[in-house]
Amino acid sequence: MAKIAPSVLGADFSRLAEDIRNADDAGIDMFHLDIMDGHFVPNISFGPALVQTIDSLSETFLDVHLMLSEPQKYFEPFVKAGADSITFHIEVHPDPHDVIMQLREMNCRVGLSLNPETKIDAVLPYLAEVDMLLVMSVHPGFGGQKFIESALDKIRIARKYIIDNSLSTSIQVDGGVGAGNAESVVKAGADILVMGSAFFGSADRTRLSSLVHEMSVVT
Ligand code: DX5
Ligand code: ZN
Repeated sequence: MAKIAPSVLGADFSRLAEDIRNADDAGIDMFHLDIMDGHFVPNISFGPALVQTIDSLSETFLDVHLMLSEPQKYFEPFVKAGADSITFHIEVHPDPHDVIMQLREMNCRVGLSLNPETKIDAVLPYLAEVDMLLVMSVHPGFGGQKFIESALDKIRIARKYIIDNSLSTSIQVDGGVGAGNAESVVKAGADILVMGSAFFGSADRTRLSSLVHEMSVVT
């Protein structure tokens, strides 16, 4: 069963509480929360205060994606705000062992992400140490962009590595994923689909969640 992680960036912030409850009712697996600093990416989103608000509105797992030049500085505030998992980018920590250990000490699940221009080889040596690999399928910074097809090869290579090394690491895909390409992304080897505009723009969110849940993960 593949999982769906709606990106709150795609929600309607003027009625956030309603969108959070409605997403929960649709049977989602986790909320994906995009944190941007205007430096690592050319946009600014929200911080720990909003994560805490979402945590107070929902019991659902909070998956926090840090698009920050100095992610380590903010691990503690986000964990305190309710983050269950924190993902940071290999581009800012090319040798991430110590950073992974820092998150482990906070009892937080750990994700490692790579941008479209970064080679998959950069993250493979660390897959055994993290809970999740996050493959960016758009240039991070904005929702609503087009899926970059070369992400599919990265997903295939990562899935093969995970199988060959008997790992249990998840592969999450983020950017431009929707009902139209979800199946090809899961067939390539992903098991968690982030959806921002596709989920919150969908007329039937429950059906979209079920569609993803019916997909079998490559093992
Ligand atoms: C992009 C973010 C994504 C984004 C996905 O920088 O990391 O999580 O919100 O949005 P969609 O699904 O609209 O591409
Ligand atoms: Zn994201």
